[in-house]
Amino acid sequence: MIIGSRKLYYEKLSSTNTMAATLIRKGNISEGTIIHAGFQYSGKGQAGNKWESEEGKNLLISIILYPTVVKADMQFLISKVISLGIVDFLMQFTSEVSIKWPNDIYVKGDKISGILIENTIVRNEIEHTVAGIGINVNQTRFPEDIPNPTSLKIVTGKEHDLKECLTSLAKSLDSRYKQLLYERISQINRDYISYLYQFNVWCEFNDSKGIFEGKIVSVSDIGRLQIEDRRGRIYEFGFREVDFL
Ligand code: BTN
Repeated sequence: MIIGSRKLYYEKLSSTNTMAATLIRKGNISEGTIIHAGFQYSGKGQAGNKWESEEGKNLLISIILYPTVVKADMQFLISKVISLGIVDFLMQFTSEVSIKWPNDIYVKGDKISGILIENTIVRNEIEHTVAGIGINVNQTRFPEDIPNPTSLKIVTGKEHDLKECLTSLAKSLDSRYKQLLYERISQINRDYISYLYQFNVWCEFNDSKGIFEGKIVSVSDIGRLQIEDRRGRIYEFGFREVDFL
């Protein structure tokens, strides 16, 4: 086992991603170490947003990785593998799991998990990765400004043991990470696409030029979303360049 070979638990800290980065900087922290917290005062979300989570209710973790097999221009593979590990874990509880590009995890139409991957790149090599994961487990009430949250408890109607969840999640993430290490790239790509939210479904999107109708047809190697319009033209979008309506 690589992911979960070592777990460090902190009752409270600012952010598990920040703690992971500090530990890496100090040196001698083994690959696969999981930093786990009961509460974060300044949990970090994507694009400078906050990640809020009620104390003791959810999974808040960061995994330290040294993915030397992945070149920097292929770093989106790490995102795919982490997303798939979370999907595999959640599929034990419900079959309605999907990945909303680039890496939000949804159950039905609601967000159950967010991922914040921070890679440190030197030339075209990834020196280290901090893969931060928040999964809503037992929280049932959320601040009003969070658009469409859900949790395992909301989905299943049951309370879940966080320790058991973490063990099982680590196992799922570990198997997916090994697919990456053994370079099973086409399998990873196939699975990622098969779980993609709204894949091949006509729907409305919004980009810098306005609203348009299209369907998701693929995700490029570098992680750009490919959308086909009604005239058969394919457009590519980076993170935050397109919104789902
Ligand atoms: C998102 O905006 O969807 C990404 C959220 C990522 C949250 C997790 S919680 C554990 C880890 N530590 C952080 O500060 N953020 C990530």
